[in-house]
Amino acid sequence: MLKIAIYGLGTVGQGVIKILRTMDLEVEIAAVFDRSRQKKQAILQGIFATDNVETVLKRDDIDLHIELLGGIELPLYIVRSAIDKGKNVITANKALLAEHGYTLFNLASRTNSKIGFEASIAGAIPVIRNLETVFRGQKITRLEGILNGTTNYILTRMRQESKPYTEILSDAQNLGLAEADPTLDVSGMDATHKLAILSSLILNEWIDYRRIQTRGIEQIELNDILYAQKMGYRIRLVGQCEVRDGLKHVILEPMMISSRHFLWDIEMENNAVSLETEFAGPHLFVGKGAGQNPTAWSVISDIQRQLTPNLPNFAEKPWQYGIPDDAGNIQSPFYVRALVKDEPGVLAKIAGIFARHKISIATVHQDNPHNASQSDGKTADLIIVTHTAKRSELLKSVEEITSLDEVSAPPVFISVIEPEN
Ligand SMILES: NC(=O)c1ccc[n+]([C@@H]2O[C@H](COP(=O)([O-])OP(=O)(O)OC[C@H]3O[C@@H](n4cnc5c(N)ncnc54)[C@H](OP(=O)(O)O)[C@@H]3O)[C@@H](O)[C@H]2O)c1
Repeated sequence: MLKIAIYGLGTVGQGVIKILRTMDLEVEIAAVFDRSRQKKQAILQGIFATDNVETVLKRDDIDLHIELLGGIELPLYIVRSAIDKGKNVITANKALLAEHGYTLFNLASRTNSKIGFEASIAGAIPVIRNLETVFRGQKITRLEGILNGTTNYILTRMRQESKPYTEILSDAQNLGLAEADPTLDVSGMDATHKLAILSSLILNEWIDYRRIQTRGIEQIELNDILYAQKMGYRIRLVGQCEVRDGLKHVILEPMMISSRHFLWDIEMENNAVSLETEFAGPHLFVGKGAGQNPTAWSVISDIQRQLTPNLPNFAEKPWQYGIPDDAGNIQSPFYVRALVKDEPGVLAKIAGIFARHKISIATVHQDNPHNASQSDGKTADLIIVTHTAKRSELLKSVEEITSLDEVSAPPVFISVIEPEN
């Protein structure tokens, strides 16, 4: 009988207990730690529960410690203490792993502990298990995906309903799809936490999330989504990790997706991860990125793994840090939208800037700003799509364009991704 302790009886913790009760596993829930356990008697149904973390941590009879609290400090203490004692752990906490995974994985490799973290990335999608087993030993040359359901939901509904960011965000908050403080999601940081963990697994070196070039969706206006649509694109918040010409490119930002790209159809709160493998070709995983049952199921699948202990685990080897190469080397076409004075010569100045940076222009389009406050007849949105350009040159061009008197605000720029073949 595997004895487990669950720390945190919220959305995911309760889901785990409910699902375990429907299954016939050799598992006993020996203890629960939760600060408001008194209010949760209906789900506990007599399971031992406490708000004293030490009471649970010090019990030698517990084989597996499952951290489902959220936050960093207390989860770090719990996971670290369990690993220190040579116990196995499961966590759904991507922020914890992005921040302290290097230390925790290396500690676990010394104490022979296993770390299950399927639920921490893309909810129900079994990407960790597949990397750990099916694709083990095979190079993953490219990973691309939508790793945050909240932002994908917001971008989808903005496009479908032609409604501004703030309106859809508050709807998402009312529906429980966005937190009261949505910063971690909309800034891209939550997705970057997951991308850092995935990148570490496929690059075989620990990638610090702070080193990942990150932009969120706060800057994306309805204009950009509507222009993208006119041009046959959708805007998604995409994470990429790719090894190309010996350089490690890791980046998380809004990108333009064409209808031929697999991320085109990933709508609302769904997540997707694609892997380009050395021998087995491309693989695409799509599924629920969050939610009680999908996330709890990933925890259950990690629990079931503990019942078959001889499978490999990422916490087995000592980890070294790796550093992504300069994102300035990444090349792609770019969409650039600048709010400009509607007068002769502006386009020529901007085209001149691009030319000096060896960026050629694929299409130019001028439109009235969709934003009513900017639609004064004197300003116009200038929308340029470039041919493939180096990101560092694009950034320099954007900086120079921003400094032009005729340009009212820093231009929005979004890289365009097309399927490779
Ligand atoms: N929800 C999802 O869909 C999802 C998806 C993927 C990953 N995750 C991750 O899973 C973890 C748990 O998420 P969740 O949605 O289940 O969170 P949640 O609903 O807020 O549940 C957290 C539980 O832990 C308790 N708790 C929090 N801090 C505590 C403390 N200091 N001492 C004692 N008890 C404490 C809370 O008690 P109170 O009830 O008193 O607040 C609550 O019961 C997080 O790391 C999250 O990022 C969640």
